[in-house]
Amino acid sequence: MPSASVKLKSASCQIAYWEGGGLRIANYLTRKTFSADPAALKLMDFFSTPRTIEEALFEFRNYSRKSLAKSLLQLIDAQLLLMQGSAELEQDARVSAAWRPWLPECAFHFMTQDTPYAPFDWPIAKKLKLASKDPMPPQFKTVRGTDRVRLRSYRAVADPFFETLHTRRTHREFARGKVSLEDVARLLQTTWGVQGYFRATGFGRLPYKTSPSGGARHPGEVYLMALRVEGLERGLYHYSAADHVLTRLPADVKPRSASAYCAGQSYAGRAAALFIMTAVFARTMWKYRRARAYRVVLLETGHLCQTFCLAATRLGLAPFSTAALKDTLIERDLGLDGIAESVLYVAGVGLPVRRMRARFAASSGGAISQRE
Ligand SMILES: Cc1cc2nc3c(=O)[nH]c(=O)nc-3n(C[C@H](O)[C@H](O)[C@H](O)COP(=O)(O)O)c2cc1C
Repeated sequence: MPSASVKLKSASCQIAYWEGGGLRIANYLTRKTFSADPAALKLMDFFSTPRTIEEALFEFRNYSRKSLAKSLLQLIDAQLLLMQGSAELEQDARVSAAWRPWLPECAFHFMTQDTPYAPFDWPIAKKLKLASKDPMPPQFKTVRGTDRVRLRSYRAVADPFFETLHTRRTHREFARGKVSLEDVARLLQTTWGVQGYFRATGFGRLPYKTSPSGGARHPGEVYLMALRVEGLERGLYHYSAADHVLTRLPADVKPRSASAYCAGQSYAGRAAALFIMTAVFARTMWKYRRARAYRVVLLETGHLCQTFCLAATRLGLAPFSTAALKDTLIERDLGLDGIAESVLYVAGVGLPVRRMRARFAASSGGAISQRE
């Protein structure tokens, strides 16, 4: 127990809810939840401004000192009550200040970070045991009705754009060679680069990119993990969209760092390059003060990834995307605090294995460049 004169404060980053008839309190920064007696809420309320244990003993003098001390200790252990001057209180204050307009809804963002993942090499039968025991839901919805219009099928149209769409697949096997810096530059510029600017009254100069962005706020940033890129040293780089420049970051990376980033998915370490997508939430939050805008940030990351996969396919490369990520590990290597800017999604490319190359050539009518 800290000394009676130490000031404590309730964590701001917590939510309370009822589950199975009992109260639960979750600290969404530690991602721990606790069952609690509703009386704990009175204590949390008392400590919503910093107070000492002495003050609590006086305020709750009708309770036994022993039971009060026990409850306080439990709340301190659970990091629901934080000590003034502690690193935990500082972190709690930073998150609650930076995310204020989008809280408490965006507790979701923090509570779903660093999720535990089933080991990638588990057999399917074992992974299936983690799925719901209920029958698999139908894949398609059927609306009954007599007024039906059968549509012409356009799948086989010979057009490079539509062929690229149909050719895109997630790849998890790659040939051993390197991708060229030219292709990496093209992927970065096409997906995350600035295509031009326009003026918007009240907002000044805003960028155009190939993907749409709510209010043209473009919260996305991208970091390149170069593993096998011809003419570029292996390492982590920040891509500056404004001037189409890569800046090397100090972190030392190896192919196994790539699979570690992707929660143990070994194929990521055999890719030639990873494109780590983050968001600077304040860009969107500055204009859109409601938590729904968090959805916008996620939707936009999906747009970027699809653009990336299509561009990579068109270049004859083998793309993939993954949301199974070790957030804190990645953010530490990128030098991010995970508060103002946080990782959301990772895409990657390698060279296609031989049998895929044949498919690319066949489906592109030879329009897509061949690689050795
Ligand atoms: C948001 C998102 C997350 C994904 N995460 C993973 C992942 O963690 N690991 C993986 O192997 N594939 C992942 N995928 C790829 C899907 O498994 C893949 O898209 C799906 O199997 C369909 O295959 P296709 O992309 O070739 O059409 C992800 C796809 C999306 C859209």
